[in-house]
Amino acid sequence: MKTGNGKKAIKIAVLGMGHVGLPTALGLAELGWQVIGADDDASKVKVLQDGKVTFYEPEMQPLLTKHLGKGFQVTSDVGKAVGDATVLFVCVGTPQGESGKADLSQVEAIARTVAANLNGYKLIVEKSTVPAVTAQWIKRTVVRHARVQSNGQANPGKKKATTIGTLPEFDVASNPEFLQEGRAIENFFHPDRIVIGVDSDRARKLLEAIYAPLQCPIVVTNPTTAELIKHAANAFLSTKISFINMVSDVCEAVGADVDSVAEGIGLDPRIGRQFLNAGIGFGGYCFPKDLRAFLHLGEEHGADTSLLREVERINQARIEIFLNKVRKALWVVSGKTIAVLGLAFKPKTDDIREAPSLKVIEALLHEGASVRLYDPEAMANTQRELPEERGRVSYCKSAFDAARGAHAVLVLTEWDEFRKLDLKKLGAAMAVPIMVDGRNIYRPEMVHEAGLEYISMGRRNAEATVQAIPPAVSTPRRRATAIAVTR
Ligand code: UGA
Repeated sequence: MKTGNGKKAIKIAVLGMGHVGLPTALGLAELGWQVIGADDDASKVKVLQDGKVTFYEPEMQPLLTKHLGKGFQVTSDVGKAVGDATVLFVCVGTPQGESGKADLSQVEAIARTVAANLNGYKLIVEKSTVPAVTAQWIKRTVVRHARVQSNGQANPGKKKATTIGTLPEFDVASNPEFLQEGRAIENFFHPDRIVIGVDSDRARKLLEAIYAPLQCPIVVTNPTTAELIKHAANAFLSTKISFINMVSDVCEAVGADVDSVAEGIGLDPRIGRQFLNAGIGFGGYCFPKDLRAFLHLGEEHGADTSLLREVERINQARIEIFLNKVRKALWVVSGKTIAVLGLAFKPKTDDIREAPSLKVIEALLHEGASVRLYDPEAMANTQRELPEERGRVSYCKSAFDAARGAHAVLVLTEWDEFRKLDLKKLGAAMAVPIMVDGRNIYRPEMVHEAGLEYISMGRRNAEATVQAIPPAVSTPRRRATAIAVTR
């Protein structure tokens, strides 16, 4: 696969420079491949051409700086990128359409672009999350449109690339990504596994060669099964989260501790500790959307996927469960100032798509509170959705700034920065030192010691708090003593 001068001969185009495409393209460049990143959003391409990443992802900026203009080129001419490359990673968006079904118009557009630029063998690799059987549709679309073009109907002015029956060969493969936002680069170089869904040896060999430097198990299967692996992986992880959130509610009801339950079951290797963090539920661009797409796929084919409906229902209910804790803690929400720590749907990203924080903030504003917001990375994105409004919505410079004069501080994203906060200082800045932690990032004793009331998810802290209140306590702010707040 290498040319004589040591340069690798396979030219790769990554189509779509979003949260999947950009880390993938830079990862492939770092592995030594010649990569063209293409996106029809010219403004995004311009930012990248100027050497700046278009969203925050740890370790990504140095990779762009290192490879731009060398192993990594970027263009808004998607057709040219397709024409110039042999392997085409399709990383375009697959947003949720009406009724939960994935909207595949961008994937279809790519298939047509491939048809129009089919100037030799191409391996089209689905990397975006797509419903099962999309690979078959891509194949069909390329054939149909290449044929139309060969008849001169699609692009009458354009040179004919093909004629019926003599289409250049192409394959469609599924190579689902398992990158997590905030860890995408790390995940790229240290994958748990690589899944390759192919119909031909040629496609398998190409993909195996591309990933050869990465040491990990490779699962080789057919495209539809590979697509199903992606569906099942995200659905299973979502199920794990909703499961522990259900357990969390039971823990609260009976006075047990969900973190210990997670540890107790997670040490069983058949279960595993990861994705058993109880809290305000999952958000982001992937889980909520992928769950609905899988549900829809099952229903479309008459398979019973109702388990996933419950997973979704439990997740959606987390926001109201959390808000009820805030309401009970404050008694009256209207007129209160509430500090929000964490806006991104998870740490180490500036992504706020389907972030639980937005739903919580919206409800609090609706109930007449004002909010003071802080996130280490996601402020600019949030500000675009929810502009600053004097006396109602304020963006703050730090967690302490957000806490200033607040009647409660809410923790909605588990950033490391928040774990390390001087809680005494935080409490001292507040009008009333109440913390409602939707991510369980502190040990309850630690927060109590700092003098804050502390309400978290699925733990005994509220029970302990009730017992800890001496009936005659009369300190006005009860700073050193834990105070009763039941859920
Ligand atoms: C997820 C998958 O983890 C990736 O493997 C997959 O490639 C990606 O979707 C995708 O399909 O593109 P991502 O959405 O970036 O990755 O983030 P996760 O780390 O999975 O977290 C998703 C949500 O679940 C976040 O809101 C997070 O706070 C929440 N979560 C996660 C919990 O509430 N509890 C947990 O224990 C873990």
